[in-house]
Amino acid sequence: MIYIAATHNENKIKEFDRILKPLGISVISAEECGAKLPEVNETGKTFAENAELKAKSACKATGMPAIADDSGLMVDALGGRPGVYSARYAGEGASDEEKIEKLMIELKDTPDGQRTAHFVCAICCYFPDGSKIEVEGSCDGSIGFAPRGNNGFGYDPIFFTDDNKTFAELSSIQKDAMSHRGKALRALAEKLREKLKEKKF
Ligand code: IMP
Repeated sequence: MIYIAATHNENKIKEFDRILKPLGISVISAEECGAKLPEVNETGKTFAENAELKAKSACKATGMPAIADDSGLMVDALGGRPGVYSARYAGEGASDEEKIEKLMIELKDTPDGQRTAHFVCAICCYFPDGSKIEVEGSCDGSIGFAPRGNNGFGYDPIFFTDDNKTFAELSSIQKDAMSHRGKALRALAEKLREKLKEKKF
């Protein structure tokens, strides 16, 4: 079975493919099946809404099952921001460093103990018959006072896990084991396994 990844991000496509391979599912890009992903405006108010917008659009464009994710960082002291705006937090096209710098400025008067935050990842798998599978994963942590570590991407260098390391100080295997995306992907594999028992997609 072939599913389409509703993203241009090579790393996400590989990650989807790696997790779903044991179920006999290959995840490929729209281009690989000769289609083009339509532009999708991420107008959803939640990660789940945005994931569904992307998956549904890719499914309609290709006629094949499609998988999309949407993720971001929610900081309690900022009322859950940047949330669904995590990628655009410091403006369209801003670098990871600029996003981190903006967050450091916004949190400069927030003391240790009040810097709790959560990474969230929603995944939607949309099928040609209009059915869908939705899962979500989250990971709790806190925001540091300065970036630390060189691995990962995005907000990883300022996101501290319980063992006092940032996501950027973990290997990808260690991060996968506790991350919002790792948890959501494992939940997706579980739900797909159940669905495949009932019907082939
Ligand atoms: P998207 O889900 O690809 O739209 O990503 C949303 C944004 O959230 C990314 O550009 C990152 O800034 C941030 N983000 C999502 N997941 C992670 C993560 O695992 N580590 C660091 N930043 C992340």
